[in-house]
Amino acid sequence: MHLGVSLVFKPVAHHSSAYALTVSLRDRVLRRPLGLHFTVAQLEQEADEFHLTAWDDELLVACLCLKTVDAFTLQMRQVAVLEERQGKGIGQQLVAYAEDFAREHLFRKIILHARDTAIPFYHKLGYTAVEEPFVEVTILHQAFEKTLTD
Ligand SMILES: CC(C)(COP(=O)(O)OP(=O)(O)OC[C@H]1O[C@@H](n2cnc3c(N)ncnc32)[C@H](O)[C@@H]1OP(=O)(O)O)[C@@H](O)C(=O)NCCC(=O)NCCS
Repeated sequence: MHLGVSLVFKPVAHHSSAYALTVSLRDRVLRRPLGLHFTVAQLEQEADEFHLTAWDDELLVACLCLKTVDAFTLQMRQVAVLEERQGKGIGQQLVAYAEDFAREHLFRKIILHARDTAIPFYHKLGYTAVEEPFVEVTILHQAFEKTLTD
């Protein structure tokens, strides 16, 4: 149980100033530690995705992307929590918000590629491993999925 500040969760539009903040956060938490950076083409490919965010007042503390796979399925990508706010329940709250968002948009399943260090996090949130581990963006990942119940 994590008790803390109450956060605001909301979707933001691609190319908005809030979206630019998500790119900075994801670059810092997910890309730079691997020596990688986003390309313009990669960010353009996100235009059709949902971009969900968590805010502590004006501060963006976490974000993720939801990509439509088919009429029933979303792929959750790029889950990132600000380093100094990790381990305080924010990732769990943001994923729960993403699942509610998916249900409201009539999706029934979420799939994702978890990096090895985040695998216990997704187990904790009720996701099930569905394949053997594989290498993606230079590190070991494993495919997970969760069927959304009402
Ligand atoms: C992974 C990440 C999204 C988790 O978000 P978080 O806010 O730090 O996690 P939470 O505090 O919500 O944790 C929820 C539960 O999962 C557990 N958990 C989270 N990360 C864990 C880890 N790496 N190992 C073991 N357990 C973990 C927590 O202990 C907590 O369990 P509890 O409720 O029993 O205390 C976040 O730490 C992060 O951004 N990490 C760096 C980027 C990354 O790896 N993103 C995922 C890419 S697939």
